[in-house]
Amino acid sequence: MNFTRTTLACALAFGAVAAHAQTTGKLKVGLMLPATGTFASLGTAIENGFRLYVAEQGGKLAGREIEFFKVDDESDPSKAVDNASKLVKRDNVDVLVGTVHSGVAMAMAKVARDNKTLLIVPNAGADAVTGPMCGETIFRSSFSNWQPGYAMGEVMAKRGLKNVVTITWKYAAGDESVRGFKEAFEKGGGKVVKELSLPFPNVEFQALLTEIAAARPDAVYTFFAGGGAVKFVKDYAAAGLKDKIPLYGAGFITDGTLEAQGDSANGMFTSLHYADSLNTPRDNAFRLAYAKSYKLQADVYAVQGYDAAQMLAVGLDAVKGDVSKKAEFAAALRKARIDSPRGPFTISASHNPVQDIYLRQVGGKENKFVSIASKALADPGRGCRMQ
Ligand code: BEZ
Repeated sequence: MNFTRTTLACALAFGAVAAHAQTTGKLKVGLMLPATGTFASLGTAIENGFRLYVAEQGGKLAGREIEFFKVDDESDPSKAVDNASKLVKRDNVDVLVGTVHSGVAMAMAKVARDNKTLLIVPNAGADAVTGPMCGETIFRSSFSNWQPGYAMGEVMAKRGLKNVVTITWKYAAGDESVRGFKEAFEKGGGKVVKELSLPFPNVEFQALLTEIAAARPDAVYTFFAGGGAVKFVKDYAAAGLKDKIPLYGAGFITDGTLEAQGDSANGMFTSLHYADSLNTPRDNAFRLAYAKSYKLQADVYAVQGYDAAQMLAVGLDAVKGDVSKKAEFAAALRKARIDSPRGPFTISASHNPVQDIYLRQVGGKENKFVSIASKALADPGRGCRMQ
């Protein structure tokens, strides 16, 4: 009898301590981002943006200090489940933040679902993450691959372009970006005459550029990012194609890359949910703070990292720092309007940003705002069922 009472008292005391530990003490954030490979600089910008928002809040979100745990995911899907599981099971993180590569993000979403861990995706556009894989604990602060592709399909069709060749890496992000583009472009009367690709992260473009020259389309639509984007744009110009066959793309092709691309990118039109010259008070303040902190110009990846931290703060405030209250956390984000440097956005029922997609043009070292290509564009988010 005594034993039972003591055991019960201990259990209750332990429960109280455990519950207490969920609202006070450090909040463990697991950053799973690429620190090596073609997307390394994207990972750095995301982490910088995330840390900048936390620093602006005095180092705490919902009153809880933040403790970071980090893994270099190498943009390698084959290591992704192990990497995410280390953060969740070994380090016991409260929230996972990552990543850049769509294939890696899909593995993270599975780990987050299986362990009921919060996940905020600060880049990877894999349609499935906020489609069939979506769930109460999974959010995205960036875009779905479909969004910029679809917006550019509309732009290029309206420009009267008829025959287009697409070129990308053969993996989820490239395939889905091209699919979104093709959907809108062909609806608008255009035709994708050839779909070219090479395995991620290869950069031997020469044979494919020869095929483009031979096909002589009206234009090319492309998805590449990071180091691969730098090389592709330079090779395209060096092959003499820049002035003959206009190159368009999802904006990742020229974001965070213009310094290295130089003149070869000049004049290119791209579509994205951010531009360098938005010139709003919100964006100007963000860019200044970012430049002061990191001695770097902000880009779309920095914005997405910053907004991942903002989204975490919105959810945490709603549950007073108690990450175990997943349903309330999610409900707060579904009602939120995020005051992003890109412009305000809301979050769809499947937890993807509903946002303006801009048409931009490269001028010197900037992706200059041209117009809003697609207003408050929501991903179709096919097939989402909450857990
Ligand atoms: C992706 O894999 O989803 C991705 C990578 C870089 C830029 C944009 C998307």
